[in-house]
Amino acid sequence: MLVAVLPGDGIGPEVTAEAVRVLKAICGDTLIFEEAPVGGAAYKVAGHPLPPETLDVAKRADAILFGAVGDPDCDRLERALRPEQAILGLRKELGLFANLRPAKLFPELVDASALRPEVARAIDLVIVRELTGDVYFGTPRGIRITEAGLREGYDTMRYDEAEVARIAKVGFETARARRGKLCSIDKANVLETSQLWRDVVIETAAAYPDVELSHMYVDNAAMQLVRNPGQFDVIVTGNLFGDILSDQASMCVGSIGMLPSASLDSAGKGLYEPIHGSAPDIAGQGKANPLATILSAAMMLRYSLRRPAEADRIEAAVAKALAAGARSPDLGGAMTTRGMGEAVLTEL
Ligand code: NAD
Ligand code: IPM
Ligand code: MN
Repeated sequence: MLVAVLPGDGIGPEVTAEAVRVLKAICGDTLIFEEAPVGGAAYKVAGHPLPPETLDVAKRADAILFGAVGDPDCDRLERALRPEQAILGLRKELGLFANLRPAKLFPELVDASALRPEVARAIDLVIVRELTGDVYFGTPRGIRITEAGLREGYDTMRYDEAEVARIAKVGFETARARRGKLCSIDKANVLETSQLWRDVVIETAAAYPDVELSHMYVDNAAMQLVRNPGQFDVIVTGNLFGDILSDQASMCVGSIGMLPSASLDSAGKGLYEPIHGSAPDIAGQGKANPLATILSAAMMLRYSLRRPAEADRIEAAVAKALAAGARSPDLGGAMTTRGMGEAVLTEL
C-alpha cells in the first residue's frame, strides 16, 4: 500500500513525522511512504501550493496523510497561490466530499476540557461535514466596486440536491452504525441553501426509518455543544458550519490538538489530517500535540487500508499514553511533540 505524506507548513511536518513513526512501527514494510511538498512549502520550492507532482502522488496513493497548510508569509499572495488552496484543491480534485470528524473524550483528559467534568464525560459524537461544496466553492465570488464606488466583497452559498443527498446518506449510515441518532444542522430560518438542505435530508430519511432524525439551527447547535454535548451522536452539516463547529467540539474534549479527521470519496479513498492548522505561533518549538495526527493515521488504517485491528491498537496506545501522564502544553503539560510520539510508541 502506498501512503502519500504531505507534511505542509508550520507544525505540519512536526506532527506528521510522529504519525509516520507510529505507522512504521505498526505496519513495518507493508506500507510504502512517498513524501511531497504542499502549501507554502511547495510554493517556495515549486511556485505553486499544489504542484502537479504532489497532486500526482496523492492520486496514485492508496491513502494520504496530510499535516497542515498555512504560512503568514503567503497571506498577501493572490488567492490561487495561497497555501490553503492546496488542501481545498486536493479535496475538490479527489472528490473527498465526506469529512468525518469524531470528537470523543478520553476520560484521562477530563480536566483538559473547557467544560465541567460531568458535561465533558458524555461527549462521543461524529461531525459529518460536507467538504466540496457550500460557500467555499460557490461562484460568483470576488471583490468589486459598486455603483456607489464602494468596494464590495461577495461569495455564493450553494448546494444542489445531489450534493446534499450524498452527504446526508453518509450521515445516516454513520448514525446507523453508532447510536442511531442524526442531527442535521443548518440555518433554514434564514438561508435558501439551508431550506433545500433540510428538505433533502428529510427526503433521504425515508430510507433510514431506524435512524432518529432531528434538525437544529447552527447558532443553537453552537450553544448546545457547550451546554449538553452528550445529546449528539452524529451531526451532519455543510462545509462552513462543520468547519466552525468542529473547532468548537475539539475544545470540549480538551484541545484542538486531539481531533483527527478522514476526508473520503465515494470509493473509500481518503485523506487523513488533524482538524487544526499550521499553528505558526508554536511552529518549530516542539510544542505541537501530535495526537490528532496519530489518531488520523488510525482512521487511515480503518477506512482506507482496511486494517481495523491496527487502528484499534493505535487508539488504545494513545489512551494508555494519556493515562500514563503524557501531556503536551495544550493539555496542560510540558512534553514535546517528539516526547508525545515516543509515549505512544512505548505503549505500542
Ligand atoms: P490553527 O489551528 O493553526 O491554530 C489555532 C490555535 O491552536 C493556535 O494557538 C495554535 O497554536 C493552536 N494549535 C493548533 N494545533 C495545535 C496542536 N497540534 N497542538 C497544540 N496547539 C495547537 O488555526 P489558525 O491560527 O487560525 O490558522 C493558522 C494557519 O493554519 C492559517 O494559515 C490557516 O489558514 C491554516 N489552517 C490550515 C488547516 C489545514 O491545513 N487543514 C486547518 C486550519 C487552519
Ligand atoms: C480545516 C481548515 C480549512 C477549511 C482551511 C485551511 C481551508 O480550516 O481543514 O478545517 O476551512 O476547511
Ligand atoms: Mn478548520
